Amino acid sequence: MDGAKEMGIRNVSSICSLTKLDEHDLSCLPEKPRLNIERQRSFDERSLSELPTILTRESYDNYDSMHSPCGRSCIDTPASFGGNSFNPHPIVADAWEALRRSLVYFRGQPVGTIAAYHYASEEVLNYDQVFVRDFVPSALAFLMNGEPEIVKNFLLKTLQLQGWEKKIDRFKLGEGAMPASFKVLHDPVRKVETIAADFGESAIGRVAPVDSGFWWIILLRAYTKSTGDLSLAERPECQKGIKLILMLCLAEGFDTFPTLLCADGCSMIDRRMDVYGYPIEIQALFYMALRCALVMLKHDGEGKDCIERIEQRLHALNFHMRSYFWLDFQQLNDIYRYKTEEYSHTAVNKFNVIPDSIPDWIFDFMPMRGGYFIGNVSPARMDFRWFCLGNCIAILSSLATPEQSMAIMDLIEARWDELVGEMPLKIAYPAIESHEWRIITGCDPKNTRWSYHNGGSWPVLLWLLTAACIKTGRPQIARQAIDLAETRLLKDGWPEYYDGKLGRFIGKQARKYQTWSIAGYLVAKMMLEDPSHLGMISLEEDKQRKPLIKRSSSWNC
Ligand code: GLC
Repeated sequence: MDGAKEMGIRNVSSICSLTKLDEHDLSCLPEKPRLNIERQRSFDERSLSELPTILTRESYDNYDSMHSPCGRSCIDTPASFGGNSFNPHPIVADAWEALRRSLVYFRGQPVGTIAAYHYASEEVLNYDQVFVRDFVPSALAFLMNGEPEIVKNFLLKTLQLQGWEKKIDRFKLGEGAMPASFKVLHDPVRKVETIAADFGESAIGRVAPVDSGFWWIILLRAYTKSTGDLSLAERPECQKGIKLILMLCLAEGFDTFPTLLCADGCSMIDRRMDVYGYPIEIQALFYMALRCALVMLKHDGEGKDCIERIEQRLHALNFHMRSYFWLDFQQLNDIYRYKTEEYSHTAVNKFNVIPDSIPDWIFDFMPMRGGYFIGNVSPARMDFRWFCLGNCIAILSSLATPEQSMAIMDLIEARWDELVGEMPLKIAYPAIESHEWRIITGCDPKNTRWSYHNGGSWPVLLWLLTAACIKTGRPQIARQAIDLAETRLLKDGWPEYYDGKLGRFIGKQARKYQTWSIAGYLVAKMMLEDPSHLGMISLEEDKQRKPLIKRSSSWNC
């Protein structure tokens, strides 16, 4: 706890192992800038009458017109914008203003950010809600700017929502499920605000967001790491929340793999995109959430049992992912030469992948130097597509070995045109086209080739790339990507996504002033400016992992 004291940690009274795994984290470095107390105070002091409390477009419009004459001076400037730390790009100020405009209040307290600020009224859908996954970059931006209160409010509010009974038709969801999004409803007659949450019962496809709970745990650790305030994670309700989320994933059943079996559309790609099975995005987030939980859970009776299960799962998941999801030139060549129909423990081609099913594009795409975690592995199926989020999270969580992390960066450099092009960053590569698109997406008009989830470019991914670049010691890659984004983002009105092979066109149905595009850019900028921020979202490799657990060793012999 000595280190904790040095960092000005507020509550060190109870025992928590939070610092244990973080010894090597960059944010422990002494040069970490202190929270901007002055900014914090002025934020807390803003009166409700100054700010929108109703989540309707009109209120935002009114707010805009009410305040537009004085512009930014009415809205707090970022701490890093004070002129003392660095010279920001002019669009940084606009980004902060837009981010603050997206704040959502519940009974006077900021609890999140709206998904998109600009939309034609007939296209609202659910973009007027606070999405758990969308709020993550906003939260990081606020934390990096010394404004942790909103993050704390968000964590507690969503935790309360977890406690609701969740039902789709007559079927009850697991207790630990976290919402995909929530909305503040304002009753002007009764003058009360209430919250409506969506756990999948309103979502397209009626799929529960598997990623929400993981992001919640990851964010709780980021908050703790950034503020040094251990008391939030140590609260009994937070400890319970973590355990409930993980109980959904750690229960024993018919699984033969440590990976998590998922329905299509259960994460950022929330429509049918052939992601069902064991998608890399979820496996990487699962891994990261398990590691974050490990450092936050108390070693009491129930906690101990959970910790043991987490350790066993991490061990098996780590082995499975590094062995079966990893693809580089050598591995591709091995798969290309696979024999099939092997039986028994001696099988090399364990999942019976038929070499004829390897798509042509991968032979050109795979560089001699470089590699990545493929999209999905299950019986007789390897989805060779590249998914950005899963690979970046694999680097940040140290699911990837240091060599694998370097190889992922090598691949990004070698395939810059394909993966970055003119606008960072491709969500998935390549796009699915023609007949395949019909069968795989169910003729989805939003996910046509090189658009949206089907090979579209998403500015929000910039923060993940930047974090991965810093972790692997290649900040110049992030710099290049940020430079590209800066030529377009503000001018184009912060679109949700871009279309085309090079990401040159504003997305067909892209929302403007998409909050996570704005926050993602700010986080990328701030991290590059002060790499010590990386510690809140990155975990070093755990070198003390226990020797092989009993069950898997018996399986292996
Ligand atoms: C879209 C995206 C999803 C995001 C939501 C709100 O549905 O696919 O990932 O959370 O919009 O921005």
